[in-house]
Amino acid sequence: MFQIADGISLCKVNHSERKYFDELVPLKTGTSYNSYIVRGTEKTALIDASYPQTASEFFRQIEGLERLDYIVANHGEQDHSGLLPEIMRRYPNAKLLTNAKCRGLILDAMSLDESRVETVDESSSYDLGGKTLKFYMAPWVHWPDTMFTFVPETRVLFTCDFLGAHSTLDACFAPEDESTLAAAKTYYAEIMMPYRAHCAKYIKLVREIDPLVICPSHGSAYDNPEFILRAYEAWTADSCKKLAAIPYVSMYGNSVKMAEYLSEKLSERGVSTVMVDVVNGDLGEYLKAIVDAGAIVYASSVVLAFPHPAMANIVYLTNLLKPKAKYFAVIGSLGWGGMLVKRITDMLATSKPELIGDVVAKGKPTAEDFARLSALAQTIAERLA
Ligand code: FEO
Repeated sequence: MFQIADGISLCKVNHSERKYFDELVPLKTGTSYNSYIVRGTEKTALIDASYPQTASEFFRQIEGLERLDYIVANHGEQDHSGLLPEIMRRYPNAKLLTNAKCRGLILDAMSLDESRVETVDESSSYDLGGKTLKFYMAPWVHWPDTMFTFVPETRVLFTCDFLGAHSTLDACFAPEDESTLAAAKTYYAEIMMPYRAHCAKYIKLVREIDPLVICPSHGSAYDNPEFILRAYEAWTADSCKKLAAIPYVSMYGNSVKMAEYLSEKLSERGVSTVMVDVVNGDLGEYLKAIVDAGAIVYASSVVLAFPHPAMANIVYLTNLLKPKAKYFAVIGSLGWGGMLVKRITDMLATSKPELIGDVVAKGKPTAEDFARLSALAQTIAERLA
């Protein structure tokens, strides 16, 4: 347990063995599920529960906790609510406090005594004795049920998933360095980016609340909120960087050769590039790149007339995550045929970026194909200027 502020402690349960989050994004060092204990002079509250697979470590950390009056569920997803039945069994006098939407989701997901669940809203206030629990509704970061809890006396804000990171650092507060930003940015891309406008709105809300400490339920806490707030303001802004993300897959070396040539021509025109091998590379690097990129260029081989399945997975994921890039292009090489550009364009139907060019070679790219790649680089540079 770590001390966050007077009477507030962090129960940080690391799940280092976890290899994927949502069975989707590789985790370099696992993740943590954070719960917080708020002690008043009369009552004690637990903010967010934990994940059933790490129950033994959770209960080991809160072993000395004899009394629990309230359990706050800021969010109903299982990594923060899965242990509620067991916690409520061990603390039979504890009431569960949550908002109406979250209440429904939790009761759908697990068996709880409904008479012990109290519904809260922004007018609710729970006095623990020298510490008060107040609530701010913040739906759609990234589920419809999310909210924040605030203790005004210590100005500590509990944001659950929002502003979190997949990190198992053995530290109460996140260091203000590149590795913290990288972990937070990858997490933002995977979990928050589809709701970018909501995130921007809630960053403003957090600034209005003006906490001294921000306590998410993944990763470490922030004792200098400015560090993470500024990062989110940049990530959620409409403006993009002069950056092109180039995910690629190449069965016979032609598509990667085209991608490398395009990358070189973009660099000559002042556009940075991040090339990511979608089969053997780091998906996290791609996710970080598309937080800022102004354009995405899909460079793919063709399998049985369709985009390579590894590329289809990337295009599908990108469409779900809705990065702010307005432009995309498709390059690659055919075997015997296929509608590479149309298939990829169709897969981006929800996020609707604009197709600003394509270069598809028949087998080995020709001098004419390379000339068209130079022209594509020029188009991209002009759009991102
Ligand atoms: Fe960490 Fe949406 O759960």
